[in-house]
Amino acid sequence: MDNRPIGFLDSGVGGLTVVRELMRQLPHEEIVYIGDSARAPYGPRPAEQIREYTWQLVDFLLTKDVKMIVIACNTATAVAWEEIKEKLDIPVLGVVLPGSSAAIKTTSTDRIGVIATPMTVRSDIYRQKIVDLAPQMQVETLACPKFVPLVESNQMTSSVAKKVVYESLSPLVGQVDTLILGCTHYPLLRSIIQNVMGSEVKLIDSGAETIRDVSVLLNYFQLNHSRDTVITADHHFYATAGVAGFKEIAESWLGQDLNVEHVRL
Ligand code: DGL
Repeated sequence: MDNRPIGFLDSGVGGLTVVRELMRQLPHEEIVYIGDSARAPYGPRPAEQIREYTWQLVDFLLTKDVKMIVIACNTATAVAWEEIKEKLDIPVLGVVLPGSSAAIKTTSTDRIGVIATPMTVRSDIYRQKIVDLAPQMQVETLACPKFVPLVESNQMTSSVAKKVVYESLSPLVGQVDTLILGCTHYPLLRSIIQNVMGSEVKLIDSGAETIRDVSVLLNYFQLNHSRDTVITADHHFYATAGVAGFKEIAESWLGQDLNVEHVRL
């Protein structure tokens, strides 16, 4: 048993889609979350800058004595996961591998689409992981740089969001039977994405898939939180800017009152 919290990081509110799954699947676990809203989006930034920012978020989480870190951001995973997991002596999970495996399991035509930020698409990490596991897969990747700003500004249900999603996804419509939401912000646009792609297309939420791996690792390393405490775990959320906006999105997405603090890195 280990009652220390699990650390989550993202460029902003996207990692909350991963946290929601943790709260559902492993409700005893405690969370420390940091969203770098001051510098989101990460996707259009150069790799070296994303790497530096990601390390700052990791160092912040380490000051909170976390027992495991989930890099709840595909972009940061693409750039820095290998390096961070090598350097830390606690388990560090990224979100790319679990989403890739789930898509391989799900597709029945071997045609998988991936939508992600410009950096994740440029890194080619999804195609590499998928083809490495199952070489017969055909992978179509598409950068959707307009999605993260829509989510960060809480415009997920606006008519602008519908138009942007419709226009952005048109090259993929009819091309794939499985689509990886390769950015943790995108599940917040899920119903619009599903509408545009068609109800027969299976959407893979890379963050949600990651929680299964979190569960396996907690068991393997005997790091589970004890079950004898009340389920209202003591979570801590931090944002580097826009605390009020972060809190509004987080409370509506997670369905509970949250304490969100501002932090300067
Ligand atoms: N949630 C991050 C991801 O999964 C978003 C990146 C961004 O800030 O552009 O890639």
